[in-house]
Amino acid sequence: MDAKSIVELNPKVKLNNGQLIPQVGLGVYKVAGESAEPLILSAFEAGYRRIDTAAFYGNEPEVGAAVRNSGLPREEIFVATKIWKDDHGYERALNAIDESLARLDIDYIDMLLIHWPSPALGKFVETWAALEKSLESGGVRGIGVSNFQPDHLATLISAGGTVPAINQVELHPGFHQAEVRAANDAHGILTEAWSPLARGRFNEDPVIESIMAKHNRSATQVIVRWHVQLGNLVIPKTATASRLQGNISVFDFELDETDMDAIAGLDAGLRTGPNPDEF
Ligand SMILES: NC(=O)c1ccc[n+]([C@@H]2O[C@H](COP(=O)([O-])OP(=O)(O)OC[C@H]3O[C@@H](n4cnc5c(N)ncnc54)[C@H](OP(=O)(O)O)[C@@H]3O)[C@@H](O)[C@H]2O)c1
Repeated sequence: MDAKSIVELNPKVKLNNGQLIPQVGLGVYKVAGESAEPLILSAFEAGYRRIDTAAFYGNEPEVGAAVRNSGLPREEIFVATKIWKDDHGYERALNAIDESLARLDIDYIDMLLIHWPSPALGKFVETWAALEKSLESGGVRGIGVSNFQPDHLATLISAGGTVPAINQVELHPGFHQAEVRAANDAHGILTEAWSPLARGRFNEDPVIESIMAKHNRSATQVIVRWHVQLGNLVIPKTATASRLQGNISVFDFELDETDMDAIAGLDAGLRTGPNPDEF
């Protein structure tokens, strides 16, 4: 697919706060140093309009530089970043938000997430109050969470205030997160998949390979397409510029019911990252 078609066909999903977000974006964890800005500029050229970063990734300055130097109107790009768990607490989170805004230097953050609930700290509700406060200044346009289990969401929502727009969780063919997705749906929160490719673990899986052969597509394309059809927001990462356009060329084919059922059968509760109850 050419970049123009990708921009046009990448669905703009409406969040519960009214924001529109391109369904497929680029995750930039472990993309840092000199290569980060050129990679992100290449992503914009390839048709990406959404970048997922975090204070923890150490690349907010490069993400911001790429946005500023892209030549694209700021409002065409959607940037999400996240507050790390060391910055839980009302005042600390407010400072961390100011620091992210300064590092990015792009006028505003489209979406700000609490990176981990870290329940042992007991501070995600007051951290959330800081995110709510940041909406008032205009420096942050939307707020959400990441790695929240259903009981964390219930605690946050029962405290009153803003319902998160997004819950970004580990989700891939080996880990479908049915309970988290159901809880998100019940609250009107959009589910976003991190490690959506399970970092390549399914590239040689026989089920994925048979779907690849049937549609003449790569493993990455099959998996990203699966996320799109499930309704997930999805942020496949690549640090390899030549893979950017292919990874997002998923709007000109469709998985059928047999394909979706076959991938449903791969769910094995395969959590590859930390358990949010413990981290
Ligand atoms: N909220 C959270 O706690 C959290 C946690 C983890 C990740 N995330 C977010 O989710 C994003 C994606 O997750 P992730 O980075 O963990 O992993 P991922 O997207 O599941 O997989 C990335 C891996 O797949 C490889 N890959 C990508 N395209 C490929 C292709 N066409 N052919 C072969 N290999 C390919 C990449 O290699 P190359 O880079 O070498 O091309 C990289 O090793 C992150 O970047 C980050 O934004 C969030």
